[in-house]
Amino acid sequence: MGKQFLLGNIKVPGIHTYDVYRKHGGYNAAEKALKTQTRDQVIEEVKFSGLRGRGGAGFPSGMKWSFLDQKSDKPRYLVCNADESEPGTFKDRFLMEKLPHLLIEGMIISSYALGAKTSYIYIRGEYMYVLRILEKAILEAYAAGFLGKNILGTDFSLDLYVHPGAGAYICGEETALLESLEGKRGLPRLKPPFPAIAGLYACPTVVNNVETIASVPCIVNISADLYNDIGIGKSTGTKLISASGHINKPGVYEIELGLPVEEFIYSDEYCGGIWKGRSLKAVVAGGSSVPILPANLILKTAKGEPRLMTYESLSDGGFVSGSMLGSGGFIVMDETTCIVRNLWTFARFYHHESCGQCSPCREGTGWMEKVLHRIEHGHGHMSDVDLLVDIAKKIEGNTICPLGDAAAWPVASAIRHFREEFEYHVKYPEKVKDPKHFEKEPFVSEKLERAVH
Ligand SMILES: Cc1cc2nc3c(=O)[nH]c(=O)nc-3n(C[C@H](O)[C@H](O)[C@H](O)COP(=O)(O)O)c2cc1C
Repeated sequence: MGKQFLLGNIKVPGIHTYDVYRKHGGYNAAEKALKTQTRDQVIEEVKFSGLRGRGGAGFPSGMKWSFLDQKSDKPRYLVCNADESEPGTFKDRFLMEKLPHLLIEGMIISSYALGAKTSYIYIRGEYMYVLRILEKAILEAYAAGFLGKNILGTDFSLDLYVHPGAGAYICGEETALLESLEGKRGLPRLKPPFPAIAGLYACPTVVNNVETIASVPCIVNISADLYNDIGIGKSTGTKLISASGHINKPGVYEIELGLPVEEFIYSDEYCGGIWKGRSLKAVVAGGSSVPILPANLILKTAKGEPRLMTYESLSDGGFVSGSMLGSGGFIVMDETTCIVRNLWTFARFYHHESCGQCSPCREGTGWMEKVLHRIEHGHGHMSDVDLLVDIAKKIEGNTICPLGDAAAWPVASAIRHFREEFEYHVKYPEKVKDPKHFEKEPFVSEKLERAVH
């Protein structure tokens, strides 16, 4: 097992309570930061650690913090993005449920560094039971003097609130989230201005993912130097991966960035291989929004190098032969999976979740869903395959927020790598009438190898 900065104590009974968390070194990092480090020193540490946003885009966290408008005399806010609605991603829920105090400690240190006196955790509405766990832990932290006025006798004070969303994927987009937090409909804002200049209530704001914030106490504890040593190149530290699909051991894993994808899928320490002794067909490596890769390209790059679990390696080859680490929602598909059906399911999700503000996304996601539905159900035309590519191209880059891109990329990549399978649906409509068509007889492509272990 690799280094476990986030989940190291996960199996300790009662670790979700203040007393047990504290007994196991919890809040030592908050004490160290508040008592011995200046705000700038903490920001420098986070910058030097190489920590990158764990919410999907992988933007360097220290750099993002340094964009916060320092000249403004308005209040500053830290908002934790706990919306987690990306299909295939469930790591933040696990972290908040099992280690609520780790997130709270991260919020304290990060708010201190940013100069925020009021901070929020915006949590998706479906996680109501996790909200209750967090609220209980927040009360414990107030009682222990880690929240409230003059924390640990310093001049730093912080109030922390949990705010539930109402179940909309779009509210995970940071500006839609801020609108929702202000009590309005969650519609993404035009950028610029970015939240660092005009965020919550038009004040300087940083929005960070749960895992990003929970990584901060680890950096303060072990030092930025040591954190930076773990991982490869610009992918430092550890990352939580939500592994699901056709594997023997689905779950949340903390991996050291740089782990070979093959080891992650096949070793007993992680996913334990493909279930039922079947072979691997495809993987969506970073949540439903990233390009899908066939077995040969997820295990090795187009240059023949082993693919690694890093931001750089997973995107090697761009969108022609690569994908993205994204949120770490790792969805594994075996040989019986119908790629068209899988894509239709994703398309239904994006159509349902599009906020409707931008026509290419509002109309395009609906068209994609319709066209995919008819191909999957044996009513497609050969021209539909290129029609899908055309719709995806018209959405990509033409919307206020990246939800449009998130809907377009999976379609474009699936057709790039699995075109034959789409054409098969059109050519043999009677063979795809049964929704489990490829379970009886997996589709065999001449072009793509399957990974058999
Ligand atoms: C449609 C959409 C949904 C998103 N959902 C989430 C989410 O659930 N959680 C999250 O942390 N980031 C999500 N993001 C990314 C956020 O906009 C933002 O980049 C992120 O919270 C920044 O945190 P980080 O720098 O720590 O990664 C989403 C983006 C889009 C476009």
